[in-house]
Amino acid sequence: MKDTLTIVDNATGKSIELPIRHGTLGPPAVDIGRLYHDLGYVTYDPGFIATASCRSAITYIDGDIGVLLYRGYPIEQLAEKSNFLEVAHLLLYGDLATQTQLDEFTGVIRRHTMLKESLKSFYSGFYHDAHPMAIMVGVVGSLSAFYHDSTDIHNPQHRDIAAHRLIAKMPTIAAASYKHSIGEPFIYPNNNLSYCGNLLHMMFSVPCEEYHVDPLAEKALDLIFTLHADHEQNASTSTVRLAGSSSANPFACVSSGITALWGPAHGGANEAVLRMLEEIGDVKNISKYLARAKDKKDTFRLMGFGHRVYKNHDPRARIIRQMCHEVLQKLGNTNDPLFELALRLEEAALKDDYFIARKLYPNVDFYSGIIYKALGIPTNMFTVMFAVARTVGWVAQWMEMIAEPDQRIGRPRQVYDGIATRDYVSIEKRT
Ligand code: CMC
Repeated sequence: MKDTLTIVDNATGKSIELPIRHGTLGPPAVDIGRLYHDLGYVTYDPGFIATASCRSAITYIDGDIGVLLYRGYPIEQLAEKSNFLEVAHLLLYGDLATQTQLDEFTGVIRRHTMLKESLKSFYSGFYHDAHPMAIMVGVVGSLSAFYHDSTDIHNPQHRDIAAHRLIAKMPTIAAASYKHSIGEPFIYPNNNLSYCGNLLHMMFSVPCEEYHVDPLAEKALDLIFTLHADHEQNASTSTVRLAGSSSANPFACVSSGITALWGPAHGGANEAVLRMLEEIGDVKNISKYLARAKDKKDTFRLMGFGHRVYKNHDPRARIIRQMCHEVLQKLGNTNDPLFELALRLEEAALKDDYFIARKLYPNVDFYSGIIYKALGIPTNMFTVMFAVARTVGWVAQWMEMIAEPDQRIGRPRQVYDGIATRDYVSIEKRT
């Protein structure tokens, strides 16, 4: 089999043999590196529909059959048998940890959970009603000012320390963003608790009362975080890589990832799902909103449905759906009509020809939003929770990129569509 693709320029008769790159799984990729040099063409692919931006050995998705692998392990097996910190180690270092490695990794993450005390004053600069994502972007970006002893990206030890700090401090930063928004005192981490137990403790306990972490809430959060830990080259991860390609420090890069995650077409979808359910308001309005979602003249979309890559089903949604129903049964306020509405909307959309024909299934965010609501997490914290989990993926992808020997700055081309050259006109002559 010829491992090249021949491109012939009909205008000039020139041709070029482009090499084909094969990964271990997935479609082959045409290496277009010489296209511009040899034929003078750039490629045009807005939205990166057919563009691989990098090589990566971390996560693999086959969207046609609904497969998600972390370092080769199916997400279903990890969701059932592993936990978030073990998965974090796997994503960062490539293999399942031995018991000793896992104890060491967990110990390191626990040791880094506290924030510098002076960071607290940073929070007080934000209005109490600031969106916690806005606070998080600022605080995470500011970490490079507080922890500049780990920002030499060419030093592998610095990279490791920065990675551990980011993963460990993210729950503390997230919980503090929430506490600031409700005017309650910040709660220090308790390193006897699990990663997710600690986050629940810092969000929901108060200094004057005992707080017990609910085991089902802890388990549900750990599952969501495991499912959200990485998702190859999505918008926020690509943003982290692009920012990192300029040699920016990892705290700045992760902060840029948080901003990209915020939008409702990406991580903001879990928050948008709840806002949509509130807008629909009642089971009797479902058909009206389904009709709106199908109407091309209407901008309304069914949030939590559809995915750029998964065109069969989202394997994470299948796993989380079961947990969602369990959490609703045991922890959900059964009088809350929103939960009934969510389940009926899911049922109606799955039977609807428009959604069936376009392979629009509920994605992971449809269910994660409902679980968060049942756990008592406020809507504006949903995407923050996503950011905490995805930090692992951002950091793993950033470390992989920086360690590449031939790493170069990312610099896409464009098709210029503006006015061709014209002469400057002095102001008195302009009409
Ligand atoms: N509601 C109604 N119609 C939809 C929806 C939806 N949620 N999603 C896609 N469509 C239609 C779309 O109008 C198009 O129809 P047609 O072929 O008739 O023009 C067709 O389905 C294909 O959609 P697309 O816009 O080409 O798909 P995309 O790959 O560009 O967009 C998406 C993917 C996730 C942005 C989109 O499905 C969407 O906006 N979904 C709602 C937001 C959401 O839940 N996002 C979270 C994604 S999962 C978590 C994450 O990755 O962060």
